[in-house]
Amino acid sequence: MDLPFQPGILDPVPAAGRYLSFRIRLPAALREGLDELRGRTFGSEAVVGVGPAVVRSLGCEVEGLRELPALAGPGVCSPSTPGALWVWLRGDEPGELFLRGRELAACLAPAFELVEEVGAFRHGPGRDLSGYEDGTENPTGPAAVEAAFVSGSGPGRDGSSFVAVQRWVHDFGRLAALREEELDRIVGRRRSDNEELSDAPATAHVVRTAQEDFDPPAFLLRRSMPWVESEAGGLVFVAFGHSLDSFVAQLRRMCGLDDGTTDALFGFTRPVTGSAYWCPPLAGSGRLDFTALGL
Ligand code: HEM
Repeated sequence: MDLPFQPGILDPVPAAGRYLSFRIRLPAALREGLDELRGRTFGSEAVVGVGPAVVRSLGCEVEGLRELPALAGPGVCSPSTPGALWVWLRGDEPGELFLRGRELAACLAPAFELVEEVGAFRHGPGRDLSGYEDGTENPTGPAAVEAAFVSGSGPGRDGSSFVAVQRWVHDFGRLAALREEELDRIVGRRRSDNEELSDAPATAHVVRTAQEDFDPPAFLLRRSMPWVESEAGGLVFVAFGHSLDSFVAQLRRMCGLDDGTTDALFGFTRPVTGSAYWCPPLAGSGRLDFTALGL
């Protein structure tokens, strides 16, 4: 069955990205703001997610949509920073995305106000700024569709997706101080050839997050992109799922909430934001289907 999902979710990570997060500014204008979005066609050049606050304000419910939990484990934490609307602009060139972002933010006012805007980019063949290839164990083909999209829930829901978004800030001084072998043991893969370490410790990131090791298996479609601003930088972690459950299960394990063992990744990076959104399906001709929101 062909699911009517937003194509930018499944398409490969673009050369340039821009993440826009909005808050509700004028609740009375919400329907107008969402109508503005519904009037546009969505191909691969943008992905839209609606936050729990918007759904609540409209008096609706999207089953499974909730704020991300704020988590704290031994020496680590992951914040919850709710957002009302999220747009991932995708393209080839940062200047074009900047201008598209301006235009969109102007059209979404006064319902929505832009609160965070992060420019992002593909690094080499798809590496994190630590140098490690990111996305290797992503499901592909039909498995990617199964992992990322709702199905069997009827029109208005099928083809929708849930996305978890976190901005991570790297400690580049720490990264530079670590020896290559130490870093490989943190990630659980070799930076040089992306091979998985056969003797990776329990703290290694790929051991913590091994998707088949969860019950039920916790598959995610990760579409993260590096970001930099002045001397700061890191990863905008973006993971799509047919629910938020896989992401939360993985994050809990990274934070040591399953067995007290935290993910060694926290040794050089930390999340400073964390929000969840529902990405509506398409109704046809590339327009967003907001029937689940009563629109
Ligand atoms: C700055 C933060 C992060 C960095 C730099 C990072 C980097 C990586 C790298 C290099 C890999 C190995 C290659 C691959 O399969 O993609 C990986 C795997 C993975 N990561 Fe992360 N990651 C980060 C955060 C997260 C978070 C927050 C989650 C989920 C809560 C997560 C879930 C996964 C999963 C599911 C895998 C594949 C595991 C497997 O089945 O082998 N990552 N990550």
